[in-house]
Amino acid sequence: DWTMAAYRDEKIAQIREQVGSAKVICGLSGGVDSSVAAVLIHEAIGDQLTCVFVDTGLLRKDEATQVTTLFREHYNIPLIHVDASKEFLGELAGQSDPETKRKIIGRVFIEVFDREAGKIDGAEFLAQGTLYPDVIESVSSSSGKAHVIKSHHNVGGLPDYMKLKLVEPLRELFKDEVRALGRELGLTDAFVGRHPFPGPGLAIRIPGEITPDAVETLQQADAIYLDEIRKAGLYDKIWQAFAVLLPVKTVGVMGDARTYEKVLALRAVTSTDGMTADFFEFPWDVLGKCATRIVNEVRGVNRVVYDVTSKPPGTIEWE
Ligand code: XMP
Repeated sequence: DWTMAAYRDEKIAQIREQVGSAKVICGLSGGVDSSVAAVLIHEAIGDQLTCVFVDTGLLRKDEATQVTTLFREHYNIPLIHVDASKEFLGELAGQSDPETKRKIIGRVFIEVFDREAGKIDGAEFLAQGTLYPDVIESVSSSSGKAHVIKSHHNVGGLPDYMKLKLVEPLRELFKDEVRALGRELGLTDAFVGRHPFPGPGLAIRIPGEITPDAVETLQQADAIYLDEIRKAGLYDKIWQAFAVLLPVKTVGVMGDARTYEKVLALRAVTSTDGMTADFFEFPWDVLGKCATRIVNEVRGVNRVVYDVTSKPPGTIEWE
């Protein structure tokens, strides 16, 4: 009789067996998967685990603080928080091609992670929150069977000179199972129920060039959008909801003045694994409220549109 409690115990035993008394480093992204992996491994081996949280500066508003607080204060898991936002934004400056942006982020992430991990003496293992869909997507693309649609920086991104062995306790799981495991480990519903967030973060939600101003504008708009979705009781009905800041300006009117500001696109989809998705059918009043608040409260945006494309043919993210 299969239960998540039994699965957890089995994984804990396996991790202890694999790792022995060695030290493990876990890369935290701020998302649900790496957090669940870290908590599970911490339960198995305690302070043999150190987490390295590379803060790209491209996370949602306040998310970096939420993650560090949860790990340090609630779980007491040793955590190194690296604020690398300047480095990421510096390397991304002037770049507007989607694949180039993804590759830069992947590379800088590894460089920063590597630098920090190198400071942890005698680590032998690297833990990752790789899920089953990540495994099959990267296997099919590297064997040439599937067309590589977007480069993923979560899997197989390890440089050779980092001779660490991998611990990937979530490799057999789908997203909903990871959430169940997280709850089993005592993470709150609000935490494990958070929408998936891509490794490259807000960079792939700002088509074209990324500037610190654009990131801040998007963070503000995204926070309002998610706030209204939560207030309407819709958050858990949606697989992923986010805003995209377009590099397009349009004319508007505010008071009696003409405005000329950017367009913000809202996206929300339902899905079970992210491989296919349908656009979410919002009640109009919720969308209307979001648009009103965003245009009134966020400087630099004067128009809001909603994306009604499903996957396929659209992808969930815009880049
Ligand atoms: P797409 O845009 O390909 O996204 O339909 C499918 C799911 O994958 C997420 N995604 C990523 N997740 N690293 C990640 O961890 C990435 O590079 C990445 N790119 C897309 C996306 O948010 C959606 O849930």
